[in-house]
Amino acid sequence: MSCLLFCVSFFTLFISTFANCRPNGTLYNDICYVAYSDQRSFYDAEAHCAQEGGHLAAIHDAFTNKFLADLAKPIVGIENYWIGGYYFNNLNTYNAFWTWVDYESFEYTNWGPGQPLYNLSSYCIVQIPLSGKWSVVECTAGKPYVCEYTNASQSCPIPGWTTFSNVFNGCIQLMDNSYTWPNALSSCEDYGASLISIHNDYQQSLVQLLLIEAQGSNVGTTWIGLHDPQNDGNYTWIDSTKLDYKYFDTSTLSKDYCGTIHNDYRWGVEDCSDGPYYFCLYSFEQFV
Ligand SMILES: *[C@@H]1O[C@H](CO)[C@@H](O)[C@H](O)[C@H]1NC(C)=O
Ligand SMILES: *[C@@H]1O[C@H](CO)[C@@H](O)[C@H](O)[C@H]1NC(C)=O
Ligand SMILES: *[C@@H]1O[C@H](CO)[C@@H](O)[C@H](O)[C@H]1NC(C)=O
Ligand SMILES: *[C@@H]1O[C@H](CO)[C@@H](O)[C@H](O)[C@H]1NC(C)=O
Repeated sequence: MSCLLFCVSFFTLFISTFANCRPNGTLYNDICYVAYSDQRSFYDAEAHCAQEGGHLAAIHDAFTNKFLADLAKPIVGIENYWIGGYYFNNLNTYNAFWTWVDYESFEYTNWGPGQPLYNLSSYCIVQIPLSGKWSVVECTAGKPYVCEYTNASQSCPIPGWTTFSNVFNGCIQLMDNSYTWPNALSSCEDYGASLISIHNDYQQSLVQLLLIEAQGSNVGTTWIGLHDPQNDGNYTWIDSTKLDYKYFDTSTLSKDYCGTIHNDYRWGVEDCSDGPYYFCLYSFEQFV
């Protein structure tokens, strides 16, 4: 009996002491980093990191920048590799910024000469391991990458859903069942979640990132929690949060009820019939 107790607590101790870094990972300042040599697009690389419970690495100081260059060199050689920085441009306000996948302050930078260059159609950041300098590359390019794994402040209770703890106070999942808007909503509700509501540029940019990850440039109807229940132009979020941020594509607003993300990732409304994708948000707030 006591042996069983001892064994269990020993095992638990073992896990909590050593499980914080992955196989092939290196712990630095309490963050576990893993370099991967397979070539993926930025989106796909992030999807792989997220599937493993992390994100593409964010870099906040010169020490970490150097550490990651040294970590990556033996794995990626002289090849540039993805770190988690990308560029968002709000098409309505022209508010444009660089950010990390799980938004954290983007203050430290280590751009190479002449960088960043704004002559591409998408902007994602690679680090050159030999110099540690950063460069902008088309996000669809295939590159090796480095993921970071932290102890998320709160992990998602729903397996397979992803926590972006600095962007959403909850976890999110893009679902690819073809449902009507009301059925998409009840599918989210089956998980204790709701259709997603979006409240700032960081959330919008992340939603875009995940849509590109899943759909490439071929964006299908993607239901979000926006709706117009009275069909009077009074749009509201189904999760009862405030409509305090707007990213409408006003040129395509029609007299319909159900909110969706359009081709250029701005919002519109459509009739509520079957759409191929929908976004759920499981909010941590509902239980506090
Ligand atoms: C660790 O790295 C080696 C060599 O790159 C690779 O063969 C192996 O699959 C990796 N292990 C894990 C668990 O990722
Ligand atoms: C995770 O938490 C443990 C225990 O609190 C801590 O020792 C460890 O450094 C943390 N690991 C990471 C990757 O943050
Ligand atoms: C962007 O500009 C740089 C520097 O002038 C040039 O080397 C590069 O080929 C350009 N890229 C594209 C896609 O035009
Ligand atoms: C819009 O709808 C919300 C929720 O149904 C309601 O509280 C609000 O009063 C409405 N606003 C207008 C201008 O009709």
